[in-house]
Amino acid sequence: MDSTRVSSERLQKVLPDALAAIQGVIEKHRVTEDEWSAVLAFLTEVARRDEFVLLSDVTKTSVLVDAISHEGETGVTPSDVEGPLYREQPPWREKPVKIYEEYEGSENGDVLFVRGRVTSADGTPIRGAVLDIWQTGPDGGYDLWDERQPDYNFRGRFGVEEDGGYEFQTMVPKPYTVPTEGPVGRLLEAIGQHPWRPAHIHFKVEAEGHETLITQVFFPDDPYLENDTIGAVKSALVRPLTRHESEEELTRRGLDAPFYTCEFDITLKPALSGGQA
Ligand SMILES: [Fe+2]
Repeated sequence: MDSTRVSSERLQKVLPDALAAIQGVIEKHRVTEDEWSAVLAFLTEVARRDEFVLLSDVTKTSVLVDAISHEGETGVTPSDVEGPLYREQPPWREKPVKIYEEYEGSENGDVLFVRGRVTSADGTPIRGAVLDIWQTGPDGGYDLWDERQPDYNFRGRFGVEEDGGYEFQTMVPKPYTVPTEGPVGRLLEAIGQHPWRPAHIHFKVEAEGHETLITQVFFPDDPYLENDTIGAVKSALVRPLTRHESEEELTRRGLDAPFYTCEFDITLKPALSGGQA
């Protein structure tokens, strides 16, 4: 995520309102010194554990900022929040693109091929587009906290074909809980909010002359589709999974178990400046 600085002018405009809102809540609820100290200790721990993005997500603040930032956009793929689990400089994956290695436990998952085309808002294919994918494994874990997985498993960058087409091999992700062992997890428990997210795949798509798209793809019939703890599900980003089990298809793919495909065409918004956003 860009660490764009907030201008002094903007800060002078927004900060007084932000403080007035917080102080209004303190007055309304007669917040005590002990309670306020607890709030400050909590925020200190959030910073120490690097959980501010997570806090922004589970309070649905990230979703609100995303919605405001992309208000009124039509004819392009909807954006979605980045979340705290993106890692810089993921490995470049050569074609045919496969973004994972098998590990102990992955044999219980289902292979998934995600494919589609990256085009500009006018339908022109974007041959120079680069996709950056990250997701959990088939039993709900990110490489960051699943010790069985190789580093950077289920992550990768790769380019599209001349016609904007792409395909990558991954595994069907499953719902998972956001990290619960830190202060944000304790907060969720205290307020009775479950920590689950529906299964999803994160996309970051970059192309010259277009705004970078950060989004997520979800799947139908997920138990948390209507109840995502960060509230990030958009119906336009839910894509069906198609199961393939014929001998012919398995042979063609070199697989010995049924697999799934998912179609996800991506439309990018041209950048106003004509440069890369
Ligand atoms: Fe995620």
